[in-house]
Amino acid sequence: MKPVNIGIVGLGTVGGGALNLIRDNAEELSRRTGRTITVSHVGVRRPRPDLTALGIVVSADIMSVVQDPAVDIVVEVIGGITDARAVVMAAIANGKHVVTANKWLLAEHGNEIFAAAEAKGVHVAFEAAVAGGVPIIKVLREGLAANRIDWLAGIINGTGNFILTEMRDKGRDFEDVLVEAQALGYAEADPAFDVEGNDAAHKLTIMASLAFGVPLQFSKVFMEGITKLTRDDVAYAEELGFRIKHLGIARQSAKGIELRVHPTLIPQDRLIANVNGVKNAILVQSDPVGPTLYYGAGAGAGPTASAVVADVVDLVRALTAEKLHSVPHLAFMPHAMANTPILPMEEVVTAYYLRLQALDRPGVLADVTRILSQHGINIEAILQKPADDAAGTVPVIILTKLVVEREMNAAITELQALTEIVAPVTRIRMETLA
Ligand code: HSE
Repeated sequence: MKPVNIGIVGLGTVGGGALNLIRDNAEELSRRTGRTITVSHVGVRRPRPDLTALGIVVSADIMSVVQDPAVDIVVEVIGGITDARAVVMAAIANGKHVVTANKWLLAEHGNEIFAAAEAKGVHVAFEAAVAGGVPIIKVLREGLAANRIDWLAGIINGTGNFILTEMRDKGRDFEDVLVEAQALGYAEADPAFDVEGNDAAHKLTIMASLAFGVPLQFSKVFMEGITKLTRDDVAYAEELGFRIKHLGIARQSAKGIELRVHPTLIPQDRLIANVNGVKNAILVQSDPVGPTLYYGAGAGAGPTASAVVADVVDLVRALTAEKLHSVPHLAFMPHAMANTPILPMEEVVTAYYLRLQALDRPGVLADVTRILSQHGINIEAILQKPADDAAGTVPVIILTKLVVEREMNAAITELQALTEIVAPVTRIRMETLA
């Protein structure tokens, strides 16, 4: 049988890693697929005489890769959204299968891309788009296909998790760790995407579609980053038996689907609370299997190339067997996608950690608890720390039981209006993940 030719668009960390992996593991890949897999064409801005010498066509014009009739599968790893979208749509129009690691592209334009692929009879594979080397796409689409998925919660941004781990372990400040995290090379091209939650929201959008059989709806994800977290919050949470993790949470409730990305207090003894550094992990609660946890490297050349090349292997197998659409792009058959509403954040029910900076005088706590009780908010724990500033104000930390976010928003507005509360109230959502 003739070799399968791969065109790679973009030779950065991921593209370079995929090129090396396909060459280094050529024999293993051939044993797994029954075909020879060859990188025949790469699209990269700078000349690469080393690759030309190996017989690989090198084009500065990335579109010439997708127009090359010899290329069977296009690997899009340029990142960003404008050029990547043009490359993927042109590849599909030219009847080529696509592998992409681009979560931003899929979260924003995936519905259009998958519809075009299905109309054209080609496949767009995207294992590397979520959690790098952790094969969570295959898990949600195939491994758990017999289950009803109730919720999933993931640490899906390695950069953010590294920052939170350092803040906790070494008591370092956010800004200080951020600089080091970016130097590690895991950060997005726009580092704000890591710390403001966009990157995690892109990945959550994709996982929620696969879990619940709904179209991709990035614009409806509630998003809060880690930029406002303080060392004190991290330490107080520890004292109360919790750890702060930046989680992407997707949950199907009777009213609709929750899609939210935010710092979250979780009990210290949960396995996922102990996922540290740049590692990723996704906890999936489904019926009948119960909770399952997937852990590993969420970024970097090797792990991401592992996922990209696994997709290449899947496509080569499917090409060889001519059974391309046996696994639908978004796990459910296109005609069977549900229009379950995505819940506005105000309707989400969760527990909370609140930190108030209060004047140290009689009656303050009475005012605070009165406001909470007027909004039906039940207190789980309360902790007052010694004065920590020149004015002698005291931090008061309150953990609450479950309450709908609308009531909490109203209560926080009233708390902040009290003259005894001297700074904006810090609110961090809290989940037991039980
Ligand atoms: N910037 C991402 C992270 C890379 O830190 O996890 C993988 O998507």
